[in-house]
Amino acid sequence: MSTLPQAEPYRIKVVEPLKITTQSERERIIREAKYNIFNIPAEDVYIDLLTDSGTSAMSQYQWAGLMTGDESYAGCRNWFHLEETVRGITGYKYVVPTHQGRPAENILTLIHVKPGKTALSNMFFDTTHANVENKGGIPHNLVIDEGLDSQSDHPFKGNLDPSKLEEFIKRVGREQVSLILVTVTCNNNGGQPVSISNLTEVREVADKYDLPFYLDAARFAENAYFIQQREPGYRDKSIKEIAQEMFSFADGCTMSSKKDGLVNIGGFLALNDETKFRQAQNYLIQMEGFVTYGGMAGRDLEALSIGLQEVMEQNYMANRVRQVHYLGAKLIDAGVPVMKPLGGHCVMLDMKRFLPDIPQEKFPSEAFCVKLYVDSGTRAIGLGQLAFGSENPETGEVNYSPLELVRLAVPRRVYTDNHMNVAAESVKRIYDERDRINGMRLRWAPDMLRHFTAHLEPL
Ligand code: F0G
Repeated sequence: MSTLPQAEPYRIKVVEPLKITTQSERERIIREAKYNIFNIPAEDVYIDLLTDSGTSAMSQYQWAGLMTGDESYAGCRNWFHLEETVRGITGYKYVVPTHQGRPAENILTLIHVKPGKTALSNMFFDTTHANVENKGGIPHNLVIDEGLDSQSDHPFKGNLDPSKLEEFIKRVGREQVSLILVTVTCNNNGGQPVSISNLTEVREVADKYDLPFYLDAARFAENAYFIQQREPGYRDKSIKEIAQEMFSFADGCTMSSKKDGLVNIGGFLALNDETKFRQAQNYLIQMEGFVTYGGMAGRDLEALSIGLQEVMEQNYMANRVRQVHYLGAKLIDAGVPVMKPLGGHCVMLDMKRFLPDIPQEKFPSEAFCVKLYVDSGTRAIGLGQLAFGSENPETGEVNYSPLELVRLAVPRRVYTDNHMNVAAESVKRIYDERDRINGMRLRWAPDMLRHFTAHLEPL
């Protein structure tokens, strides 16, 4: 018997109509947006693959949960639900609710990071990197070499290299290191997972040198699914059991619930150390809100505690990763250069091979994103020279970003495979006519984080 194709383990009850624009309208829109995709009004985007963060569709149970929101200032019932859920998944004793991931990172780094000392990670996400730096700390990434090689098909390209870790600690001295934080899955190289055996190795080094070890758990369930599928001995374990095991190696975690929380806003810090927890609560009250709601409304706490359970359902997750890989496989089949293996939440296009004749200082990724938007109304994001590099107009000196990527991030439970077909076809079409793309010129940029607000112009 032939195998049946896999389809979504849900049906659609409410729809959000999408505006269909014409190519000439999109040409005008992108011109008015100063050729920066962040400036496009979202209503003028047909398929929005800018991010998987805060863009999930909630289930009927989550929407119903919103109606049970208890908006009491202190001790609302939804807080107790969330606390119990987070404890059940992570095993950590103490939970600190925040409005998204970065305030949890801010609190964690306020507690652990010390000026002049290094914080180590497989790869820090941008906001975590900034949160280490703004406490005077030095963020340093130690992902395995395969993690930076776009063609390596290592199954756990998010792994933190344990020998590099120990070598680093020995070289600078244990006193110069403040924190180890492992990002699961590793966002910056395309949602690549971290294995259980790697977490075991990191724990051993952390114990040997008595260093605090946390997880950035934004995509913990996707990571657990990859362990189930790829790591020997985990096939028969549930996503929840694997997630529990992952968390058991660390002293705590930060989480942006806008990803694997299946909600549009939310986050938390969870940990075992009571003294650090009391410190965290103090910061929370100053910066976010009282200890039983942090930065969230009671209804948001409820939606999150339901989302955290739904994200670990096997059928949900198998279909989630299937859809991301469906998009990626279409591009690979067409010969489009993508980062391999495909990750959990996105497909990364390798623009150094896609547009090899456009030098990085002419922003090939942004030139591609503009073309993609004009072609099909699909929005993607450039992660290369504009985001991470710099050029000095006076001396002509260029600081190059090591990678030049475009990310197609897939929101959870939002688009159908037909949307993926449109996006893939549009990328393929542009790839076939890539000779017609020129680079971009910067017309204006702020001093920091320029890719969000820069004005560009096609060459
Ligand atoms: N950690 C990881 C691994 C992330 O991917 C993000 C956000 C954060 C922390 C910060 O969380 O946005 O809730 O404050 N990533 C988004 C993205 C923005 O598009 O990848 P936040």
